[in-house]
Amino acid sequence: MATKTPELDAVSGPEAEGQPEQASPETTKTATTGPSQRLSRRSFLSHLGAAGLVATAPPLLAATPASAAPMEQAQEPAAAGTVPLTLRVNGQAHKLMLDPRTTLLDCLREDLELPGTKKGCDHGQCGACTVHVNGRRVNSCLSFAVMHAGDEIVTIEGVGQPGHLHPMQAAFIEHDAYQCGYCTSGQIMSAVAVLKEPVGPSDDDVKTAMYGNICRCGAYPNIVAAVQAARRGI
Ligand code: FES
Ligand code: FES
Repeated sequence: MATKTPELDAVSGPEAEGQPEQASPETTKTATTGPSQRLSRRSFLSHLGAAGLVATAPPLLAATPASAAPMEQAQEPAAAGTVPLTLRVNGQAHKLMLDPRTTLLDCLREDLELPGTKKGCDHGQCGACTVHVNGRRVNSCLSFAVMHAGDEIVTIEGVGQPGHLHPMQAAFIEHDAYQCGYCTSGQIMSAVAVLKEPVGPSDDDVKTAMYGNICRCGAYPNIVAAVQAARRGI
């Protein structure tokens, strides 16, 4: 609409708008001398056609590419505006070119193809995206990947794999601490971190320590039981 309006203005132009300040003295004179000469003027303009438009629209036609070029130039850096990043995940270095706006969560899932870390709320409210950064649990949806150059990141894939489960993973299975399983990787990542955090011995202490991890299936009693079992080394 923004470009269309000036175009329409340019086509209907000064003549339709009657913009005397853009008309030359000769044009004004011709327009007031009589119908035949008016026709002649119209004919002249008609013959001029595009030339008239160009004459009227130099600002428009000149402005279009001129304004488009900066836009392309502005978009190009955005499209090519990736930044180099080396991310260490699960003990492995990954060289990436990333849009600096990429969250750590999206980078893990989309760029590194590690889908074990889940996207729940994408707003830091559910804990499904919990990973470890330098040994501390972090909501990866709230952190930009580029902030983690040089950090040691661990995802659920790095905690344990079938055949080599982490004791916490084994405890979750043993205590049936999941139903749909969507929250489970985040729960386990938080629970593994709790093993090294100054958390009291009671179930309430565990609930408090794990409060950032939501389970919509309500598997909380079994989750707490699993965490406690792993803490006791059972
Ligand atoms: Fe990150 Fe919910 S997806 S906290
Ligand atoms: Fe379904 Fe937790 S097991 S959300």
